[in-house]
Amino acid sequence: MRRSRRVVAPDLFWDAPSRLVLGDGAVLLGGFACQEGAALLRALAAVAEAAPFRHMVTPGGHCMSVAMTNCGAVGWVTDRTGYRYDRTDPESGLPWPEMPGVFADLAAEAAAQAGFAGFMPDACLINRYEPGARLSLHQDKDERGFDAPIVLVSLGLPATFLFGGVKRSDPPRRVALRHGDVAVWGGPSRLAFHGVAPLAEGEHPMLGRQRINLTFRRAL
Ligand code: SIN
Ligand code: FE2
Repeated sequence: MRRSRRVVAPDLFWDAPSRLVLGDGAVLLGGFACQEGAALLRALAAVAEAAPFRHMVTPGGHCMSVAMTNCGAVGWVTDRTGYRYDRTDPESGLPWPEMPGVFADLAAEAAAQAGFAGFMPDACLINRYEPGARLSLHQDKDERGFDAPIVLVSLGLPATFLFGGVKRSDPPRRVALRHGDVAVWGGPSRLAFHGVAPLAEGEHPMLGRQRINLTFRRAL
């Protein structure tokens, strides 16, 4: 059964066939991006050619296991001086590639579906995971305001998403993310802690040995 295979946490429920409630203002839209998968990956290839994936360094001096790039008016970056949104790619000194229309449209549709009409992202962080890569629990709070939701699109190899509450001590639920799944969190869940467990080995028909994640935000 789809339901029992997909969800590890017993306290989560589906309120529609492919809509899993993760919290107040937080939902997983199962397979929402599947149809656009190929178009998203074509647009991604152009972005990654202009602004290649790189492993950034945290303020504490750790090299991140996830490789990142960005598109949109601003991009999220980290280095020894801290986390920030920057209008230019520090590697090239050029503005980040424009956000492809297929990205922005999908993010807006997913947000609307989740109850957040009118979402207009100005930043898309693109994360690339190879087996073993992980993202520790954190809040997205480098944006100027928290009125807009976060929209996450998972492509390629499956991953275990960790979705907690607004306190670090709230135990995170483990949610399986598959190719084409979209998670949206905003409102009372906007500052929920979240992360990604180490990616398991695998081979995806479209992406091979990797997972790509798009995170859309309103940063400015
Ligand atoms: C994020 O937390 O910003 C992205 C999560 C992911 O890469 O799946
Ligand atoms: Fe995040």
